[in-house]
Amino acid sequence: MTKKLNQILDDQNIQYVNRTKNSYRKHNLATKVMPGGNTRTTQWMEPYPFFAENAEGMYINDIDGNHYLDFMLNATTLILGHAHPDIVKTLTQQIQDGTVYSVPTDGQSKLADILVERVPSFEKVRFTNSGTEATMMAIMAARSFTKKTKIAKFEGGYHGTHDHVSVSVYPKKEDLNTETHPGVPEYSYQPKSILEDVIVLPYNDIEKSKELIHKFKDDLSCIIMEPIISNFGYLPLDLEFIKFIREITEELGIVLIFDEIQSFRVSSGGAQESFGVTPDMTTLGKIIGGGLPVGAFGGKDEIMELFDPTSSNYDIAHAGTFNGNPLTMEAGVTVMENLTSNNFEKMNHLGDSLRSKLSSVFNEINLDVQVTGYGSLFGINFNKNKIKDYRSFLNNNSDMTKILFSYLRNKGILLQLKNAGALNILMTEKEIDYLVDSTREISSEMKDTLDE
Ligand SMILES: Cc1ncc(COP(=O)(O)O)c(C=O)c1O
Repeated sequence: MTKKLNQILDDQNIQYVNRTKNSYRKHNLATKVMPGGNTRTTQWMEPYPFFAENAEGMYINDIDGNHYLDFMLNATTLILGHAHPDIVKTLTQQIQDGTVYSVPTDGQSKLADILVERVPSFEKVRFTNSGTEATMMAIMAARSFTKKTKIAKFEGGYHGTHDHVSVSVYPKKEDLNTETHPGVPEYSYQPKSILEDVIVLPYNDIEKSKELIHKFKDDLSCIIMEPIISNFGYLPLDLEFIKFIREITEELGIVLIFDEIQSFRVSSGGAQESFGVTPDMTTLGKIIGGGLPVGAFGGKDEIMELFDPTSSNYDIAHAGTFNGNPLTMEAGVTVMENLTSNNFEKMNHLGDSLRSKLSSVFNEINLDVQVTGYGSLFGINFNKNKIKDYRSFLNNNSDMTKILFSYLRNKGILLQLKNAGALNILMTEKEIDYLVDSTREISSEMKDTLDE
């Protein structure tokens, strides 16, 4: 980092520390009982995270009395905003009726009905408590269905925290080989067998992907991918590439799994509806639980039959003490009922407007920044090269990324650490303009120091 950029970041951190003294105290106490002071790596931010007191609508309030316009939305989850009155009402009623039973409720069927109706690839669906469990179960299903064991995923693709998707998720530049496969382990002593069973492909590279898929075709049960890549500032994949993957998987009898845990928010049927490409299976999470823990996986009848204890094809036990619990299911139904086509249109239109205003700002100040995103998702990338895959995304300037995040946090705006974010149904041009104007202020300052 240049001296001047370092100075800007230091100033921002000092301001933050001065504004968050109670959080600092709480954080220090928390570090005595939890590694890093919390229980989720993604809650970490430098120099320490602020602690939430409560949240309402578009804002989170911290325990020092600061307010943050929330574009993080718990990793895109809170599409209706915080504490939406309909969700509060639904949950209050359900809590009085009991929080969880060991038998099904109508809420499960109601949410399943809505999702099967909306998601093109869903003929049947099952619920889990997290997206991690959803991708894990979908992969098990693909293995059992195809009678093959290897899986393919993409470099830089995140699909939760279980072992078989934890390969080449965040590999460091210095650990990358010329080829994407074999992949890079995500932690020391990750079993070699996992690295052998997980084929790592490059996003948006038809030739290389084709070569690897053909090489392993006899053992490949599935390919898991995101149509809009969360880890690269919500970059939508090239449509040509998505279509190529659909065709080759169909041709070779490989199950195609779309991980739409984040991208489901771009239309009522998710990115698969927007792009017109239907996978064999889909995993969902985040928005479909109305702010409560959730995941779902589903797809073709003939695959989902593997979970049906009455079927002669039954093969996979899928337990889970809190699967489809009534609180999550009722909140999920409420959020879906609020997500009308008007609301999708409004959020996506606002997303277009945000991306276009941000791009104009960077053109105006002549700074190399790529604004990525799709629908209500966006990312701000300090990067001269066109982002198309993990390796090009890695070229994002990490110092400028940190400065923008820290500056916006002091202005009462919360983004994801890599300056990506999402909109909710409450936001208007006013909130967008505040984000754009604040981004212009700090970006001009950074540009001035670079020009000096
Ligand atoms: C694309 C994607 N897949 C899977 C997951 C895992 O979901 P969860 O955190 O609910 O386990 C996430 C979570 O951020 C995600 O973004």
